[in-house]
Amino acid sequence: MQRKIKESMDNQGTTSILQNRIVLFPLPFQGHINPMFQLANILHSRGFNISIIHTKFNFPNPSKYPHFTFHQISDGLLESGVPISDPVLIIKFLNSNIVEPFRECLDRLMFDYHVECVITDANWFFTQAIADRVNLPRIVLRTSSICSFLAFASLSLFRDKGYFSNIDSNADAPIEEFPPLKIKDIPQIETSNSEDVFQVIGAMVEQTKKSSALIFNTFSELEEPDLPKLHNQFPVPTFTIGPFHKFFSASTTSLLTQDMNSISFLDKQEPKSVLYVSFGSVASMDAQKLQEVALGLANSKQPFLWAIRPGLVQGSEWIETLPNELLETLSKQGYVVKWAPQQEVLSHFAIGGFWTHNGWNSTLESICEGVPMICSPFFGDQMVNSRYVSDVWKIGIKLEKGLERDEIENAIRRLMVEKEGDEMRQRILCLKEKIDVCLKPGGSSYQSLEKMVDFITSFRSSTA
Ligand code: UDX
Repeated sequence: MQRKIKESMDNQGTTSILQNRIVLFPLPFQGHINPMFQLANILHSRGFNISIIHTKFNFPNPSKYPHFTFHQISDGLLESGVPISDPVLIIKFLNSNIVEPFRECLDRLMFDYHVECVITDANWFFTQAIADRVNLPRIVLRTSSICSFLAFASLSLFRDKGYFSNIDSNADAPIEEFPPLKIKDIPQIETSNSEDVFQVIGAMVEQTKKSSALIFNTFSELEEPDLPKLHNQFPVPTFTIGPFHKFFSASTTSLLTQDMNSISFLDKQEPKSVLYVSFGSVASMDAQKLQEVALGLANSKQPFLWAIRPGLVQGSEWIETLPNELLETLSKQGYVVKWAPQQEVLSHFAIGGFWTHNGWNSTLESICEGVPMICSPFFGDQMVNSRYVSDVWKIGIKLEKGLERDEIENAIRRLMVEKEGDEMRQRILCLKEKIDVCLKPGGSSYQSLEKMVDFITSFRSSTA
């Protein structure tokens, strides 16, 4: 059908409006939406027309992207009773419940346009079979680091070796097959039935192997040692073209309103004096842990900007569980917001450190601005990213005991006022310089992007 339309348009000499369209399908979570839209903008700037297929759940705002076409598919998630605090169940549910709506939508787009390929989040594993059936190349965007992707791909090995049964009793033991990971760094994700994690991750890995290519939001200088392992296990063309946000910022895809008072607060602070604290868009903790975080901050006596997302604390609206006296102390020392303009914050002269959950976007954004980290991973890829930040790249301090006030206070001092923090700052500034180089003509990400554009346009000759 697609070829028929294209031929008839060729006869009328109007092929150009049919050419160059790429369909992108983001996973509906903040940390996945941001890089997918940044990638869409990068491709658009390289001459491709962009269509976005999206779920109703966490739908994007089309008015921010008048240069794309948007196509919503029904997902039935909110009516299903699946808890929206459980990403694994959501991913499992959507992968089996939106197959038909996605297929119909893709068919329609292929009828209307000449679609060159579909780019989906790695977690949309059901899409590979659909793309295969209509003979459309599927490219996978993996929004995490390469190191954490490889750790996910090793989950069943970790299980076979018995590491899961030792997570509590032998947490600090090294994983020999995957240095420098320790048993406690295994990328676990909490969900009601742990078998679901193996099923969802297993499908993600297997369907990625069947894809036409793999895109990572990273740069090769950072993850060089892991590239051969990746090529070995995933023998498809791989493009490392990040960091994406250096091309286009994430602020237009923010699902929450960014509090710009964060910047006015920072404007009044001394250079490199403020610790920025944020645990991303999904992580949650109980009220007792929130109090430990607050006490650690208060006891450190360092200025801070703390983004506390509504929903961060299980069972609370926001920060009403913190005692008034503690809130008063904190208000003299720092500033609390619900959601910050993170990239602007990290690039502000007043920021000297970032206490992060090590979601991959946050980790990359911190590296790009040369801001060393305190690492508090909560789940999944964050466990692996934080181990690499502290032990491989040596640009952050990992809180090994979890959220505990004395360790927090100590880590903040080490990062913000001691020589150790300065040394990390020097190392991360070297990485920042490497990023600046890799994005310029001749640099690794620049070249990889050129290759990716050539790769996508090469589909034209095979489908024409
Ligand atoms: C989720 C997973 O938790 C993470 O492990 C995975 O790598 C991606 O998906 P998330 O919790 O959203 O990520 O964290 P992260 O990847 O760091 O992305 C958060 C995004 O929200 C960043 O782009 C950050 O700039 C933005 N953000 C965060 C804000 O704009 N304001 C804030 O206050 C906090």
